[in-house]
Amino acid sequence: MMLHGTDALKQAAATGHALPGFVAYNLETVQGITAAAEAVGRPVLIQAGAGPFRHAGREALMRLALDAAEDSPTARLGVHLDHSRDLDEITVCLEAGYTSVMVDGSHLPFAENIALTKEAVRRARHHGAWVEAELGALPGDEDISTDAVATDTAMTDPAQAAEFAAATGVDALAVAVGNVHGFTKHPVRLDLDRLAAIHEAVPVPLVLHGASGLPVEELHGALARGVAKVNVNAELRRAYLDAVRASLPSALPGSDVVSVWAAGRDAVRDAALEVIGRLSPTPTDPH
Ligand code: 13P
Repeated sequence: MMLHGTDALKQAAATGHALPGFVAYNLETVQGITAAAEAVGRPVLIQAGAGPFRHAGREALMRLALDAAEDSPTARLGVHLDHSRDLDEITVCLEAGYTSVMVDGSHLPFAENIALTKEAVRRARHHGAWVEAELGALPGDEDISTDAVATDTAMTDPAQAAEFAAATGVDALAVAVGNVHGFTKHPVRLDLDRLAAIHEAVPVPLVLHGASGLPVEELHGALARGVAKVNVNAELRRAYLDAVRASLPSALPGSDVVSVWAAGRDAVRDAALEVIGRLSPTPTDPH
């Protein structure tokens, strides 16, 4: 069933059980994420942005995700637009029934990011959808893991974040606190003091992008400091590819493509379940 409104996001913020935003590229990844949501009974977001849309076609991937959310009798699924710089694309997704969108003006000067985000919020309100925006910039590629490293210069400033949230009316804010898209050579350390200061200054739930491979203590530190949505992509991609590679030797002689796709789908489900298991505060976290 479709997860409308901001209740799940607010509940995630209140309890520290963060909402996972899993990136889907095709039928099997949508199915795997849906199966994980059905198995665990917790709210989950299926999300996609420019890269997956380029691969699958925007309309096709939108429909796959929306149909999965609408048709599942037990899963509570939101459908979310990831990293969009384009108001027309945001409108297309809102009109199709997306439950939330991310407007990414993080590459723009501050005032222009505010203007773009405000307009996305105005459009989303008409459709009862919520909006995530981003302040600060994340290193790394959203679709390919590149061993990027975090830089101090692009991190989110707490005072600016407060001004941004007040000026835009945004529902959730993605932050740059040392997090990196994709896997990294060395374990990522988050600037948890900065994150705590942002949490203190900003009244809306925070979003952590780039959670693949993040050490679990860093993740739990983030959950205890206002992070209510956690984006994961590379871990699902790796699980999918590993499963496809492992299934090829037995599939190739008979050209059994279904067994390869099924292995990929099931691996995405298992990887998503593993991530969901991590997205709860530890008893020692000062939440
Ligand atoms: P990872 O690929 O590091 O999990 O990042 C995903 C993400 O932030 C999508 O927006």
